Amino acid sequence: MGFVSSGFVVAVVVLLSSSVLCNGGITSSFVRKVEKTIDMPFHSDVFSVPPGYNAPQQVHITQGDHEGKAMIVSWVTMEEPGSSTVSYWSENSKHKNKAMGNFNTYKYYNYTSGYIHHCTLRNLKFDTKYFYEVGIGQTPRTFWFVTPPAVGPDVPYTFGLIGDLGQTYDSNSTLTHYEHNPIVGKAVLYVGDLSYADNHPNHDNVKWDTWGRFVERSTAYQPWIWTTGNHEIDYAPEIGESVPFKPFTHRYRTPHKASNSSDPFWYSIKRASAYVIVLSSYSAYGMYTPQYQWLYEELPKVNRSETPWLIVLVHSPWYNSYKYHYMEGESMRVMYEPWFVQYKVDIVFAGHVHAYERSERVSNIAYNIVNGICRPVSDQSAPVYITIGDGGNIEGLATIMTEPQPEYSAFREASFGHAVLDIKNRTHAYYAWHRNQDGDSVKGDALWIFNRYWHQIDDSTTSRSG
Ligand SMILES: [Fe+2]
Repeated sequence: MGFVSSGFVVAVVVLLSSSVLCNGGITSSFVRKVEKTIDMPFHSDVFSVPPGYNAPQQVHITQGDHEGKAMIVSWVTMEEPGSSTVSYWSENSKHKNKAMGNFNTYKYYNYTSGYIHHCTLRNLKFDTKYFYEVGIGQTPRTFWFVTPPAVGPDVPYTFGLIGDLGQTYDSNSTLTHYEHNPIVGKAVLYVGDLSYADNHPNHDNVKWDTWGRFVERSTAYQPWIWTTGNHEIDYAPEIGESVPFKPFTHRYRTPHKASNSSDPFWYSIKRASAYVIVLSSYSAYGMYTPQYQWLYEELPKVNRSETPWLIVLVHSPWYNSYKYHYMEGESMRVMYEPWFVQYKVDIVFAGHVHAYERSERVSNIAYNIVNGICRPVSDQSAPVYITIGDGGNIEGLATIMTEPQPEYSAFREASFGHAVLDIKNRTHAYYAWHRNQDGDSVKGDALWIFNRYWHQIDDSTTSRSG
């Protein structure tokens, strides 16, 4: 046949140029040229050391209690310990408060850290802007943060979502896009893998310092809620370093004791209308382990009348249809997924895979060792699983996907980016993923997410007619 109608040609072109539909949802037609992601050089301005003798650097804050009335302030001094005290005051107050902190140091192979200070500011007022000063008596530096509103079921709040950031030019683009997003994040839910120091000889811990300086422009002004990833393990017995998580635990604090956790790697916080549970993919989680016992006791404590939004952060994704790290989250999924369905977790955010993926609500909990029922099925009590490990680190993009796209996979794309979760009230949250190639307001993937406890109606985005 020598003639094809122009209408048919147009239809084919439109189909090919838009997203490719597979068995499941959408595999984005964006195909990235896989260029090597390169760490920004040491002399980059993002790594610059603040001027002045013993000036505090790598300033970062995180929530310091269970409900949002405390903040942990951390920073590093290089020349000498200096003061561990933080001076702080609310925006409209002339009275300056002081909180006493402390400092630690650590050695890692041939690296000796600076003086790492941690100081918790307590009994803060909700929904209040505070200024704080570190480096007292030498080179003071002043920053500010805003405390969250009091915990309540209809309190709006906006979280940023970043994972696997590293310190490349792409990492810088991700952080800049987050900062410029017109939907302004007030706290970052960070899904693990921070500096990627361990990708350098002897886990070059100078990379932990440069990363701390790079992200200070955000971490000093809004809390980042930390999840640990495999790049925080830093287990290297071949160079005499056999204490897992050593650099991370010295440099970063979590409020784990406030949620009765025995370890800083799994814990929970309340913030506005959200209850955030942080899990550790790289700590023991089998039956009878501390993490298992903690989660078992934790989930029934969540009061959805107080905090309707139940969000879980974990590094290794359970529903991942990329070939990278495929099935690595499977054993944890087998352990905990029935609880997530029982307790109607709204969203699970993970990192690890350097790409983006969003699932439909799906569960795979019917299987036992004799029944053979081992297929993910649509489940309106199940969470949406989102992989947001696309911060842009030195390891590059995960571009190879399993084919065909599984039915449960709603959208996947190998691009760097970040996301925001804009909680409106107890029933509705607007979620959007932003890729680094786009303008600040462009959304690469967006949807309304309906709360599983208060508004359990289907919020899927995939047509299942096929
Ligand atoms: Fe990872």
